[in-house]
Amino acid sequence: MTKTVTILNGPNLNLLGKRQPEIYGRETLADVETLCADAAAALGLQTTFHQSNHEGEIVDQIHRARDEAAAIVINPAAYTHTSVAILDALNAFDGPVIEVHFSNVHKREAFRHHSYVSTRADAVIAGCGTQGYALALHRIATLLKD
Ligand code: DQA
Repeated sequence: MTKTVTILNGPNLNLLGKRQPEIYGRETLADVETLCADAAAALGLQTTFHQSNHEGEIVDQIHRARDEAAAIVINPAAYTHTSVAILDALNAFDGPVIEVHFSNVHKREAFRHHSYVSTRADAVIAGCGTQGYALALHRIATLLKD
């Protein structure tokens, strides 16, 4: 059976392509969704793709992934730096988790250097733009084979 990877995107990422394009680029979240579906298909995986501006909704999506997904790719956006609730939810998920950021958060303001989610993530990809999602799916395919 084809394994599912849940891909979760946090607040303001619905504005991708319009919001601070000098930092986040000009591709839209719909472009990222297509890129993920194509990369996953080439790896023999399938994806579900979600975005929410609400912390509790992201927690609910992680809970759903417990039953529906073999792995999670998450860009928690600003909640990366604030959310113990998202960390706790990820700690209740058994499969691989990869944290992705479009920008290199370590090159930016000090408050972006700390991530609650990184204490759970099996890998962190930052600064690779939309390609970071494809890289995450490649790594997930390897981890799910092992
Ligand atoms: C981000 C980095 C976060 O610091 C920021 O709050 C975002 C996007 C990124 O993808 O580079 O909204 O997660």
